[in-house]
Amino acid sequence: MKMFVYSLREYDERRFFDNICGELGIEYDSTPDVPTPENIGLAEGFDVINIITCPIDEERIKALKEAGVKLIMSRTVGTDHIDKDAAARYGIPVMGISYSPNAVADYAIMLMLMGCRRLKYIQLRTIGRDYGLYGRLGKELRECTVGLYGGGDIGKTVARQLSGFGCRILICDRHPDEETSGYAEYVDRDILLSESDIISLHLSGTPENFHIIGEKEFSMMKDGVMIINTARGLLIDTKAMIDAIESGKIGFAGLDVIENEKGMYYFDHEDRILTNKDFSILNGYPNVIVLPHMAFYTEPAVRDMVVNSTVAAKKFFDREN
Ligand code: COI
Repeated sequence: MKMFVYSLREYDERRFFDNICGELGIEYDSTPDVPTPENIGLAEGFDVINIITCPIDEERIKALKEAGVKLIMSRTVGTDHIDKDAAARYGIPVMGISYSPNAVADYAIMLMLMGCRRLKYIQLRTIGRDYGLYGRLGKELRECTVGLYGGGDIGKTVARQLSGFGCRILICDRHPDEETSGYAEYVDRDILLSESDIISLHLSGTPENFHIIGEKEFSMMKDGVMIINTARGLLIDTKAMIDAIESGKIGFAGLDVIENEKGMYYFDHEDRILTNKDFSILNGYPNVIVLPHMAFYTEPAVRDMVVNSTVAAKKFFDREN
């Protein structure tokens, strides 16, 4: 099996690719760039391409087919950046992988704590050497009801890690898990939305989940609710969220992901004008923390992304051939 890796980062991924490909006898080549119509030709003669969250549309899929690529492997959990219908039409399977769920789970809890302790506001005031207490009074997590919308690996890990804080934990998922029900109550969506002080989203970015949180859902929530999104921007209707922040319905939002973030995050925009207006609006609020989709970014998770994607691709080819 020959693998071509796009968006390979020298500073953290290279050694993991060298090690696992050496161990499994896989020939691989790479580019630091995302796949574009111009550089898809680099994958010619390779069986699999290994990518991260760069968009793979029909044009690229057609070019991949012509280049002889037999598998699109994304070293990510979500594969919503790939046009799966087009891939199916061209007969190219698409795979994602799982990696340390603690990476995202820890980050979600970090954002909950930052919200509870009004960290952004405190930091902003501290820059101007205002060390007063007024307006900084925090909440304790143990007194909050935390609702986890989505109970896959990450949602379940958040529930387990949160159990040490002593808060009431609600979780909404069609497939209750025995271990998780030891520290979280499985509830339906309406209870989760209406009884939680903090709502953390752990759903995938499928078309069915598009704007799963919108005006109606915000109206069901408690006043001053905290919203944490470390999953996918498309889960929240951004315009409705901005209205809910401005009306005070949302007391804090911790957003590692936002709508239309593709092409913005993971690049240096220091000398460019950002055109994502919602990003600029959200970033300007003292009670909203916007982060550049980095919840996944820990050493164990990066290692898992490289190793698990390479091993899964190899297994796929060993099975097929
Ligand atoms: C995923 O694995 O689905 C992520 O969101 C992380 C990716 C941005 C590298």
